[in-house]
Amino acid sequence: MTENPDQSLTLRRPDDWHLHLRDGAMLKAVLPETARHFARAIIMPNLVPPVVTGDQAAAYRERILAALPEGMSFTPLMTLYLTEGTEPADVAAAHASGLVKAVKLYPAGATTNSNSGVRDFDKVRPVLETMAEIGLPLCTHGEVTTAEVDIFDREAVFIDTVLDPLRRSVPGLRVVMEHITTEQGVAYARSGGDDLAATITTHHLIINRNHILVGGIKPHYYCLPVAKREHHRLALRAAATSGEARFFLGTDSAPHVDALKEHACGCAGCFTATNTMPILAHVFEEEGALDRLEAFTSLNGPAFYGLPVNETSLTLRKGEAQNWPDKLLTEAGPVTLFNPGFPVHWHVEG
Ligand code: DOR
Ligand code: ZN
Repeated sequence: MTENPDQSLTLRRPDDWHLHLRDGAMLKAVLPETARHFARAIIMPNLVPPVVTGDQAAAYRERILAALPEGMSFTPLMTLYLTEGTEPADVAAAHASGLVKAVKLYPAGATTNSNSGVRDFDKVRPVLETMAEIGLPLCTHGEVTTAEVDIFDREAVFIDTVLDPLRRSVPGLRVVMEHITTEQGVAYARSGGDDLAATITTHHLIINRNHILVGGIKPHYYCLPVAKREHHRLALRAAATSGEARFFLGTDSAPHVDALKEHACGCAGCFTATNTMPILAHVFEEEGALDRLEAFTSLNGPAFYGLPVNETSLTLRKGEAQNWPDKLLTEAGPVTLFNPGFPVHWHVEG
């Protein structure tokens, strides 16, 4: 990484370790937004129907590559959606062929398209044991879905009642705590060895729960896990900018058309693919940690996943305040870009 007095910063090209690309018209519209800045991304499997088998992941990968505009390069890293019917042998074969880089655990009912997720963890134990043997990571959506548990407590309760017992009962299982949102998430990630890591989104470094609820409800700031209190946001900023190998970027960029966000029962998700890198440069500069941005976006993720770092680079430069369009227009309808709520002076060059 090189940092110059003229306020430019050249990093190894970043990767996004948690991304929703969707399918069809939405895929076509959002893929270039990621491929413009990122070399690779871990692709979430929560399509309708979900990407459950190796064959489905291979077909989805082909649809992603077919949607990539001429002249852009991008490597989708595929995942399988863990269900109670997932076959250990199918997972092992999809891993052995190099197709699949992780398996995603959605507790049933936790979030968008999670109905096929896991209710009874004993039913998935054989798959998890196979994954521990072959070194294939489990990416967890870490929230319990129990009706009695307050939505702001669901991550902390998941850690204590699901994640910790699960890790103890399947020793050697590599786990990524996806999109952590709490001090408890940061502390638990730090308590593990090199078999445990956590991704942090861009938006959880910017918003707390007041941004969603004060002065009128802001549906474009609503995502899952929902943003928490300010002290949690500060813990996430400290973790992301620490340079510690266990923390890396997973944007969870999750596009939904405005009609479904601005709705009586609005969908969860912030669409951050377009402006994540400039916003992260702003955050890391504020924290006096520009020299650690590359670890977060480009080095720690490949190290955990056992992949080489990217050989190409990306340059960020500081200048005029950026004017992004408010919306990305797609054939499925407009998608509102994440608005950090303050001017951002960084842009990606080229
Ligand atoms: O906010 C979210 N949106 N969180 C998730 O876990 C899923 C995602 C989506 O797919 O829309
Ligand atoms: Zn997600």
